Amino acid sequence: MNKRPHKPRKPSGNNAPERPEKPGFAARKVAADILGNVVHKKRPLDGELDAASGHSGFRQLAANDRALVRAIVGAALRRRGEIAEILDRLLDRQIPEKTGRVLDILHVAIAQMLFLDIPDRAAVSIAVDHAAADRRARPYKGLVNGVLRRLGRERDDVTADLDADVLNTPDWLMESWRAAYGSETARAIAAAHRSEAALDLTVKSDPEGWAERLEGTVVGAGSVRLSKKGAVDALEGFEDGAWWVQDAAAALPARLLGDLHGKKAADLCAAPGGKTAQLAAAGAKVTAVDISRARLKRLEENMTRLGLSVETMAADLRAFEPDAPFDAILLDAPCSATGTIRRHPDVAWIKKAYDIEKLSEIQRELLDRVVNWVKPGGLIIYCTCSLEPEEGESQVAAFLERQAGKVELVKVNPQEIGGLDQCVTGEGYLRCLPCHLAGSDPDLRGMDGFFAARFRRL
Ligand SMILES: C[S@@+](CC[C@H](N)C(=O)[O-])C[C@H]1O[C@@H](n2cnc3c(N)ncnc32)[C@H](O)[C@@H]1O
Repeated sequence: MNKRPHKPRKPSGNNAPERPEKPGFAARKVAADILGNVVHKKRPLDGELDAASGHSGFRQLAANDRALVRAIVGAALRRRGEIAEILDRLLDRQIPEKTGRVLDILHVAIAQMLFLDIPDRAAVSIAVDHAAADRRARPYKGLVNGVLRRLGRERDDVTADLDADVLNTPDWLMESWRAAYGSETARAIAAAHRSEAALDLTVKSDPEGWAERLEGTVVGAGSVRLSKKGAVDALEGFEDGAWWVQDAAAALPARLLGDLHGKKAADLCAAPGGKTAQLAAAGAKVTAVDISRARLKRLEENMTRLGLSVETMAADLRAFEPDAPFDAILLDAPCSATGTIRRHPDVAWIKKAYDIEKLSEIQRELLDRVVNWVKPGGLIIYCTCSLEPEEGESQVAAFLERQAGKVELVKVNPQEIGGLDQCVTGEGYLRCLPCHLAGSDPDLRGMDGFFAARFRRL
């Protein structure tokens, strides 16, 4: 696709007459800005959308406009490859990089026209106004108008035969998943990423009762899944600390430690504390360690709400030494988080193959340290929310080889995780994929990609 750069129209001058902004203009402008920050500056989407410290324009929007921004940016990231291909079909020449927001404006408009329930008219006219209001995009105002109108007219032709699974997945990730899981499963993973994840809760007790009260369903190994989206803190049971938000897959690794009553357990890389809460609720005396004080503060607030008592320590595990060994350890190591793309569609466009290499070195170092912190006979769970074998299967295989004589693998039995046999590998590892927990309702299926292995200290 070696297209010649597009020739812009002459700018109409800097003193174009000011017109009042259309309703919804500010939200679209913020959406294009945030999209640009994520894809060009590699800023995490969660940070941009943070109500306290996120994008300044976003923070000033009313609640309904914030929801609109979330929906637009979410769709623009989930369908980024398809949108780029559609633009390629519509543009006869490339738009030069230095033209600021033009491409972001177009991506935001196309996300609305094709993937959200927003009338073309609104999406197109605001995109044109947005281009007109941006000094560097202004020369392309006519192009924005022409391209989007043509998409509206020729939608079926322009969107025909798009291979969404492949287009919306960066090549290096698709190749990694094909090699690890085969072509068909790699496609199923990519397809799962087009839908937003449901809201999963881990309850202290009585999953069936909570599913009934909150109009949800019990999935996985006793998680309660809700399809309706809304303010989590307004749901019954939040104030009373009856449950916490945790993906059905993320809730599985802690279960592998079995009966923890009266045992001393370390939750390493613990914040914001989903697994800490599980260990404490299972009766363990928990020490939760994390490098980030800010994230530990959130963990402490979560434990207070849940009425669970745990010891917290801010420390870099690469320099930490416990006073005494633990009965059990859970290491939820820092990872690429490619298993969470349904919830964090920015991950696909922010992370690079190089990150996997760097992170797997840290995981290796942490594993080799924590193995010394558990009593003989004690269990260690290593887990990551990554789909990459370097952070899962091959990391663990190399660990078992390095530490032969010191640890043994204790295979996962599907019965320990609610009978989910599709999530247990032949080697006895836990391996959840976004295409697991399949079902006909896209709002209710799937789970995060997760890996876990269990070892016993000899
Ligand atoms: C995957 S998140 C943990 C999620 C958590 N276990 C839960 O279930 O809610 C990884 C955590 O590792 C922490 N972390 C990263 N590097 C670390 C290090 N060297 N020492 C201690 N914690 C670290 C991060 O601050 C982050 O909170």
